[in-house]
Amino acid sequence: MENLPLFFRLRKRPVLLVGAGAAAVAKARLLLAAGADVRVVAPQGLGEVADWAAQGRLRWERRAFDPADVAGMTLVIGAMGDDELDAAVADAAKEAAIPVNIVDRPELSSFIVPSIVDRSPVTIGISTNGSSPVLARRLREQIETLLPTNLGRLANFLNSFRSAVKAKVDSFDARRRLWEDIIDGPIARDVLAGRETDAREAMLSRINRRHAGEVAYGHVDIVGAGPGDPELLTVKALRALQDADLVVYDRLIGDEILDLVRRDAERIYVGKARSNHAVPQDQINELLVTHARAGRRVVRLKGGDPFVFGRGGEEVERLRAAGISTAVIPGITAATGCAASAGLPLTHRDHASAVTFVTGHGVDGEPDVDWSALSGPRHTLVVYMGVSRAGSLARQLIGHGRAPDTPIAIIENGTRPDERVIVGTLANVPSLVRTAQVGAPALIVIGEVAALADAARELVFSTSNIPNALAV
Ligand SMILES: C[S@@+](CC[C@H](N)C(=O)[O-])C[C@H]1O[C@@H](n2cnc3c(N)ncnc32)[C@H](O)[C@@H]1O
Repeated sequence: MENLPLFFRLRKRPVLLVGAGAAAVAKARLLLAAGADVRVVAPQGLGEVADWAAQGRLRWERRAFDPADVAGMTLVIGAMGDDELDAAVADAAKEAAIPVNIVDRPELSSFIVPSIVDRSPVTIGISTNGSSPVLARRLREQIETLLPTNLGRLANFLNSFRSAVKAKVDSFDARRRLWEDIIDGPIARDVLAGRETDAREAMLSRINRRHAGEVAYGHVDIVGAGPGDPELLTVKALRALQDADLVVYDRLIGDEILDLVRRDAERIYVGKARSNHAVPQDQINELLVTHARAGRRVVRLKGGDPFVFGRGGEEVERLRAAGISTAVIPGITAATGCAASAGLPLTHRDHASAVTFVTGHGVDGEPDVDWSALSGPRHTLVVYMGVSRAGSLARQLIGHGRAPDTPIAIIENGTRPDERVIVGTLANVPSLVRTAQVGAPALIVIGEVAALADAARELVFSTSNIPNALAV
């Protein structure tokens, strides 16, 4: 983030606006809306500025800019559109350590005026850091269409009950939960629909309840975060992340997904560090139970889907045994996410009538699977955690009858910006893994469909120049 978004209180504060043309009018309108004491300096300008000056809404001095004009100002805005004058305004403001914005000149500015969605008191600022004002405007239009018109009215309504709620409900967490309940429920819907009297009555009866802010027993959502691309999160998962008091997360969860967690929520990492071991599963289970019992809303955030090689089942058993309210929010598992991203269908009328997800790693190393049942043709295998045992995997399958030239695709960092798709055949999987230096996370797709991988855009190792590591 190159600039920190801040909201500046300008009510009755002096702001210097240099210029009185179209760009200055747009800025003056914003400054007046924010209640600033606007002082315009420009030799000539548009009628609107003259009108505002005549109505006493701003002061306009019809003369050239003088560097001394910046003295005592809270902000300075330059809107002359003249290189030399703009630079002089920027220099004078910087010299006096006053924040300055020069319209369309981010390199001369110490702050940016964002595109604004105004549902006062709800205000949303959008900035592209000066890189594309048109994009910022487009985003603003999209946000405008998403937000209810009466949003400002809702914010004022909620504000009018703030001190009453504070007096009635002591705990910060309980207050937050009460507000969430109100914002997500019928009271807020009534305000947005213009039925404010009904909403006010409902709100009074809600806060006058004897246990208005009673902290509910905690809850755990076991949430699948998908294979990496944050846009593959489900809407339900996103909502859980934004409601959480605590998020307990694994190694496969990237920063872009963690950025979506409610800002004040606590985060606990339980994955494996580079030289370290992951927190043991029973300790994770206890952590979830302890925090839920303390009345917190806990999200256990896991890569892919919690119930596909995710140990989500063990966590659910432990939580249910402890009598804790638990829900599972599914995620897109690595197999389907990676297949879609690599452009290979897991089943296909011409190539595969079955698909099996299998782990390459059992509790004691070797996976406990029936290889003969998996070695027939037209059957896609997706092997999770199989890269380090690629050799024995290929040997088992070929030994049980799978053709050595069966196509395979290794997908590393599937759905992420650094995704790689490496294609080859079953017989040369181990040498592909070595030569391409496949890292984690990666999975192996074995079967006729792997030949359909959309690998052209990726690093492709030709089967002809890779030595065949298996004596088959
Ligand atoms: C412990 S399992 C967790 C699987 C997860 N619960 C799921 O549903 O995808 C971890 C394995 O999933 C696979 N995996 C997870 N994310 C992946 C990704 N983005 N690209 C490739 N493989 C991935 C790898 O085989 C990795 O070793």
